[in-house]
Amino acid sequence: MIKPHGSDTLNPLFVQDSNKRDELLKEAASLPSIVISSQAAANAVMLGSGYFNPLKGYMNLSDSIKVAEKMYTADGIFFPVPVLNLLKNVDDIKGKERIALKDPNVDGNPIIAIQTVKAIEELSDTDKKMIGDKVYGTDDKEHPGLAIWESLGNFMVSGPIEVLNFSYFETEFPETFRTAYQIREEIEKAGWEKVVAFQTRNPMHRAHEELCKMAKDGVNADGILIHMLLGKLKKGDIPAPVRDASIRKMVDLYFPPNTVMITGYGFDMLYAGPREAVLHALFRQNSGCTHLIVGRDHAGVGSYYGPFDAQKIFDDEVPADALEIEIFKADHTAWSKKLNKVIMMNSVDDHGRDDWVFLSGTKVRELLANGEKLPVEFSRPEVAEILGEFYRSEAGK
Ligand code: ADX
Repeated sequence: MIKPHGSDTLNPLFVQDSNKRDELLKEAASLPSIVISSQAAANAVMLGSGYFNPLKGYMNLSDSIKVAEKMYTADGIFFPVPVLNLLKNVDDIKGKERIALKDPNVDGNPIIAIQTVKAIEELSDTDKKMIGDKVYGTDDKEHPGLAIWESLGNFMVSGPIEVLNFSYFETEFPETFRTAYQIREEIEKAGWEKVVAFQTRNPMHRAHEELCKMAKDGVNADGILIHMLLGKLKKGDIPAPVRDASIRKMVDLYFPPNTVMITGYGFDMLYAGPREAVLHALFRQNSGCTHLIVGRDHAGVGSYYGPFDAQKIFDDEVPADALEIEIFKADHTAWSKKLNKVIMMNSVDDHGRDDWVFLSGTKVRELLANGEKLPVEFSRPEVAEILGEFYRSEAGK
């Protein structure tokens, strides 16, 4: 199986031994504690799951700056985005060596991890701006990822962590949430050698379905890992349970049995386009996948990125030896009225604009909310039905 990023074996930071976990929870009760940001909690879940292998915890200031500028930590670990615990107020934890991190996303703020504090550094306005600019590729505060970055505190608490649970992901998505470690085990059990990962934060329409099938055939893979984001999204995106249900329905009806694993990971969407695509590749390698599909406007939002910037970064900025996983680059994919099937648009040169079935996100929402059907060329009827129910229930609220 493909090696994890940066080490021979995967080292998830979740404390697997339940006795050890109980001991740590006891210790945590006597430690100074602090409620962390949703982003820091999601980082803890990703570190606990092995997705962010080989990191041992939250980065410090010099690593963050190097990562933002060059995508490498001071120790030479390739990483495309800083993984941070930023806080607004550190009065309660100043000078403390061990601290308990509380989860902002679960009622009662239970302890999600214990951190051994190596440093507390204050991020200057200049560094904060530089990191934001590099990671998100914009300084527009309307960008949903940058807006969150701006809202986080400036005290950077760095150091290793021991993760005690997977926040709300394991309880709310028991069928879907998987750690990188579990996915590796499942791939091993299935006997798959080549595995294509599909990142998604949306329900899957015909284009997504065909992209998965084309990629599987294209690289001659044994299986497809549909790996959906289960964390926070911007307003207007479809909630995870609805996406999950529609994806399960589509796979059930339209994929051959035993060729797809439907899974999810606990992370908040960054909308960082190219940088997030690289992160996506890194954590799919940690999950045991050999390929990641990167299509049009991967992890993008609005018009902040060029439609294929998330592919270009792999050619222009990611050093050849940085990652082992390969990218399956997909062109804009849509239904061809001439050929009566979904194809990549660059595979034909005799099509005009009217030869394709295009539907904007806004149009899709409008049709569904009004109880109208989506064209079958765009969406499987069973998928459209689930989405329609969701939009109608939203409209009734
Ligand atoms: S993402 O933010 O998770 O990337 P989304 O779930 O919409 O958003 O996309 C999942 C993957 O499918 C990404 O790699 C994206 O580039 C690709 N994709 C989505 N729609 C198309 C399309 N019509 N043509 C080509 N690629 C697409």
